[in-house]
Amino acid sequence: MKKLITLTLLFAIFSGGISIAATKDIDLLKLKAEATQKAKQRPVIETIALTKASTSGQFSLEAAIGNRRSVRSFTNEKLSYETIGQLLWAGQGITDSVSGKRAAPSGGGIYPMELYVVMSDGVYRYDPVKNSLLKNNRNDVRTPLSNASYKQQFIKDAPVLIVIAGSPKKIMEKYPNNIKEFMYLEAGHIAQNIHLQAVVTGLASCPVGAFESKKVKQICKMTQSQEPVYIIAVGKPQNEALTLNRVDEKELASIAAVERKKRVVMILPGDRFDDREFFDTKDVLTTAGFEVDIAAEELDIYRGNRRGMAESNLLLSKVRPNLYDAIILVGGDSTRKLEKNSYLSGILINANNNEKIIAAIGRSAKLIAYRSIVEDKIVTVDNGTRTKLRRAGAKFTASKADRDGRIITAQNFESASQFGKLIVEAVNSIKSSDTSTSGRYVPTNVLRRKGIEQDKKRGKLIEQPQDEY
Ligand SMILES: Cc1cc2nc3c(=O)[nH]c(=O)nc-3n(C[C@H](O)[C@H](O)[C@H](O)COP(=O)(O)O)c2cc1C
Repeated sequence: MKKLITLTLLFAIFSGGISIAATKDIDLLKLKAEATQKAKQRPVIETIALTKASTSGQFSLEAAIGNRRSVRSFTNEKLSYETIGQLLWAGQGITDSVSGKRAAPSGGGIYPMELYVVMSDGVYRYDPVKNSLLKNNRNDVRTPLSNASYKQQFIKDAPVLIVIAGSPKKIMEKYPNNIKEFMYLEAGHIAQNIHLQAVVTGLASCPVGAFESKKVKQICKMTQSQEPVYIIAVGKPQNEALTLNRVDEKELASIAAVERKKRVVMILPGDRFDDREFFDTKDVLTTAGFEVDIAAEELDIYRGNRRGMAESNLLLSKVRPNLYDAIILVGGDSTRKLEKNSYLSGILINANNNEKIIAAIGRSAKLIAYRSIVEDKIVTVDNGTRTKLRRAGAKFTASKADRDGRIITAQNFESASQFGKLIVEAVNSIKSSDTSTSGRYVPTNVLRRKGIEQDKKRGKLIEQPQDEY
């Protein structure tokens, strides 16, 4: 009987009907040898060994999907090799060291795609087998790449551009009738993995399909048989409201240990803000024990319309709505300046998606005139401020200050104290039905570890509409 089993097994192995680790190891060795051979034929001026990618994280897949957005304005902060390695792993990393299979699926397991990385210090390609970056050019080619992409500006500014290239020749051997289709489908799989990895890494990204293939191919020094299919711009977004907010374990422990103070942010429109709307509201908030941040376009001292001074301690671009219980807008003659401010619209829509309290007094009410925020909500404003709000579906009341759910409005400085009290009431009422972590996005797995109830509200990443392809 034993002999029969052994014979059957041997037959299965030699006929290829069964695969065991030993045979797969040989496959991988072969793969590595082939990769080394191929690498030798292509110029490499520097090799950077990447650290092993992480396979666990703070955020859920749902949070990643729910927060992905195409973002086109980045800070010029460089990304670390560790971060770049993580993004590349998500796209093409080897996720099964025995079989050599990768993070993204590939028709017939051919793996005909290759990732090029363009940064300020040159062009690299990713070698998934050796988990390394191989440099082929020392120049900053982001501007030529932007020019080859019909001068899309953000390509020039992105710290990292991942160019996905495909080899039709490789696909042809197995699927001669579906070459292009397979190449594009695979690029889509890879790109999506990279986008989602970017989200959970606190980064933003934008896919680019509008470019001149021939030029991109030359710029990246691709092989004769490769074609660029997709470019992914990645970086830290200018607008911090567009990132998933990380709460590290230490911070979380301190939140759990002590009852967190309520925290709100007041947004000033600039000089000639309405003094009384600002100071009277702020007095009520601080008396209630709230921490109050003051955000504005610049870190500066602003002068109110009655010569009161207020100093901002936070840039509008740095406001992370998830860290606040309420977002409060102050009016004044300069309100108009904020009407087209993309940071502010990002903050408001993110805050709304996170079910935060949004409060606006005086002229600032027109800044919250988004259908998603005020439709069917009762608001109170001066006659002069009604048009935009009406268009966004708001309903009006004659009372001086009013609260409809999470939306609080007040007509002007005369009702500023009442406005402040409504905010305090609203923030505290949320507290009573929630936990000490209320108002923060806290990742599920960390919460489970800490045994704290999850804050289910998750932020959406949003960006002002731009010319889109
Ligand atoms: C195949 C493809 C090509 C794209 N090309 C560009 C591009 O060249 N430039 C750009 O700014 N956005 C580009 N985008 C991004 C789209 O404009 C964006 O996905 C769309 O507006 C939806 O927004 P969202 O990604 O934030 O959900 C491309 C998207 C896809 C799927």
